[in-house]
Amino acid sequence: MRRAVCPGSFDPVTLGHLDIVGRASAIYDEVTVAVLVNKKKSSMFSVEERIELLREVTASYGNVKVDSFHGLLVDWCRAHDVPVIVKGLRAISDFDYELQMAQMNHGLAGVETLFMTTNPLFSFLSSSLVKEVATYGGDVSHLVPGPAHERLLARLAERRGADA
Ligand code: PNS
Repeated sequence: MRRAVCPGSFDPVTLGHLDIVGRASAIYDEVTVAVLVNKKKSSMFSVEERIELLREVTASYGNVKVDSFHGLLVDWCRAHDVPVIVKGLRAISDFDYELQMAQMNHGLAGVETLFMTTNPLFSFLSSSLVKEVATYGGDVSHLVPGPAHERLLARLAERRGADA
């Protein structure tokens, strides 16, 4: 069984993430999308909400599981016998930090990192930008999967209601 993990915050999942997960699922027998539980970072969606959404949008792949982790990614990899991390590289600006993490993870636990070049359609895309644009009324419907768009609009409406 060849396994890989696609880690991230996924707050929320974008079409850029989904592109990488889908391509990884065509290469590996089993891919786990692992959501980082980061209590220090404020998020729009809870970890449970992000997991539920990820399960919904990856269900059609058939070999994609969703999990969460805290602490070191390599510890999760060791515990689940997953030797490969798959990451998307959007632009050269991603490279410096990704290279450091890949080398650190390999040094710590021998876990390999496979980089996939992002579909150029999504090279400018990030969850933070999606949230910012949507917060100020911009259209992000072409940047996130349908269920993520619905939840994004609902969360923004809730927040507006709470602020009013
Ligand atoms: O979507 P993000 O926030 O860019 O994902 C970053 C993530 C979760 C992949 C990265 O921060 C990570 O692996 N964090 C887990 C903690 C860890 O292992 N740190 C050491 C990295 S060398």
